[in-house]
Amino acid sequence: MSVSKDSIAIDIKDLKKCFKEVKAVDGVSLKVKKGELFSILGPNGAGKTTLVRMLTTVLTPTAGDANINGHSILTGKNEIVKKIGVCPQEITIYEVLRAEENVEFMAIMHGMPRKEAKEKSRKLLEEFGIAGRKDWSKHFSGGMQRRLNLVMALIFEPEILFLDEPTAGLDPQARRLVWDFIRSLKNTDITIILLTHDMVEADALSDRVAIIDQGKIIAEGTPTELKEKYGSDNALEISFLKQEDLELVKNKIENISFVANSSEISHKERKTLIISFQGGLKNLVKLLQQGLINNIDEVENMKFRQNSLEDVFLNLTGRRLRD
Ligand SMILES: Nc1ncnc2c1ncn2[C@@H]1O[C@H](COP(=O)(O)OP(=O)(O)OP(=O)(O)O)[C@@H](O)[C@H]1O
Ligand SMILES: [Mg+2]
Repeated sequence: MSVSKDSIAIDIKDLKKCFKEVKAVDGVSLKVKKGELFSILGPNGAGKTTLVRMLTTVLTPTAGDANINGHSILTGKNEIVKKIGVCPQEITIYEVLRAEENVEFMAIMHGMPRKEAKEKSRKLLEEFGIAGRKDWSKHFSGGMQRRLNLVMALIFEPEILFLDEPTAGLDPQARRLVWDFIRSLKNTDITIILLTHDMVEADALSDRVAIIDQGKIIAEGTPTELKEKYGSDNALEISFLKQEDLELVKNKIENISFVANSSEISHKERKTLIISFQGGLKNLVKLLQQGLINNIDEVENMKFRQNSLEDVFLNLTGRRLRD
């Protein structure tokens, strides 16, 4: 049966998990579309891993239910585990197996013929920059083990992929590699649930984001929607050496509809005009196209501060994502 692009892959209905008095997941309802990259963004202890452990049928909910490609997590465990790939937060590899052996083992367990498993595993390990290592995986660095874990979750081409903090502990280069790979999966039918407390990661990769705090979803939308609704305004800061140059720019922005407000700061010789404006980068370009600056030599410095998901979380909770 062919499934339309907009059909629902994951339907979570009032899911709860309590550990004694701790309400780790406290009534979460969400719908994730097939083929979507959906991030669950929240600080440490927010309930992200607990939520996913229920969706992957590792933990039994205290209350509520969820459907994964039409199967209930309460009754459809056997069907669900065949369709999902999981890259857990804690690295889970067989330490006394080599990289390829770990991956091939995973593939064969999911019923892939040995020859195909070997070929696919070699290709994926190459893409992730860990091919050619012949020693036991317990000798790999943390970053390499994490990449190996990712390959193990991907090898059997799951319909739904759960990634729990996939770039935690990776250096910037390896992080970029994993991001590029996740982006390349976006052109396929695979549905991806990404758990992260990294707002840059959620912003860069997600089609939609749900922000979770203390077991509850407090906001949901595309990164742009969330930033427009709950974020701060973008700001362009222009510093001048002469007050009259600043005044000229100030007059020019007076009637621009998307400029929310402007303020001035003086520091020693330098006079800075801060222009807060709504909308994204498009409006920054529009702003600059207004002929704001006659002569660039008058400008001492210029800075653009972009509204981020960090601002969204701060404005919603009064706390930073990483306190
Ligand atoms: N097995 C357990 N027994 C008791 N409490 C638990 C258990 N697992 C999780 N918790 C508690 O549930 C809450 C949510 O934890 P969870 O690991 O789901 O958060 P998280 O959002 O994944 O955090 P992190 O970003 O640190 O991974 C925390 O208060 C945690 O201490
Ligand atoms: Mg976690």
